[in-house]
Amino acid sequence: MIYHHFKTLGSTSEHLAKMADDGAPEWTVVTADRQTSGRGRGGKAWWSPEGNLYMSVLLRPEVDPRKLLRLPVTASAAFLSAMGESGSSLAVKWPNDILFGGRKMVGILVESRSEGDKVLWAVVGFGVNVERPEDDSPIEIRDRMAFVHEVDEDLEPEDLAERIIRSLKEYSAGLKDERIWDIVRDQWTRRALLNTPYTYWDGGRKLHGIPIRLDVNGGLVMATEDGEFTVYSGELKDPIQNSKFKIQD
Ligand code: BTN
Repeated sequence: MIYHHFKTLGSTSEHLAKMADDGAPEWTVVTADRQTSGRGRGGKAWWSPEGNLYMSVLLRPEVDPRKLLRLPVTASAAFLSAMGESGSSLAVKWPNDILFGGRKMVGILVESRSEGDKVLWAVVGFGVNVERPEDDSPIEIRDRMAFVHEVDEDLEPEDLAERIIRSLKEYSAGLKDERIWDIVRDQWTRRALLNTPYTYWDGGRKLHGIPIRLDVNGGLVMATEDGEFTVYSGELKDPIQNSKFKIQD
């Protein structure tokens, strides 16, 4: 494993993606103490003050690019496994937000480049809130953040990083090995926020429904008024209170 650490970087994922294009080997890892232009899902920014873990990991899986749909779920299952027993107090919201008490502890961003039926690289970026930073967090996220030290006060970012990489190596074999993928799906499903109504939003389409299970490719099967269907991108917004949707017995 090749490991690059920076005190300050724009974005560990942006940096690693460039290294990937320049031929960096699989399992190259980039971390930074802080990021000045951290990237989140859906084009959002990821606030990245010192004290947390910002880590990107390079994979070069020899699989059909469609199998990469499994990677967000794989990465969040790897994080849960890396947390050991404390992982049992966490929840995962499809595809890969890790929550504690309804607040977000970890965001994961998966980016990739493929050519035809070949994956050139995939970069998995983990933004892990470890401890509430001394600088004031932006007001709009202050009450929505959770921290690793709330569930394991002795776990340091370096140790956590090592554990995440170890689990990701093990679980990413599930991109092509169905037996391992079954283990990953089980791990994810045990902690997943399912069977509760959500608004789904993909930037254009909005719909109300109940997430019921993962499909074989890592998509989310939702029950809606018009029947079941599976989504592969977009996100679940806040849960719907007093929904007219009921879970089928
Ligand atoms: C999300 O929006 O939930 C995903 C956030 C991912 C943030 C991490 S921090 C390390 C890596 N570098 C980035 O610029 N983004 C990811």
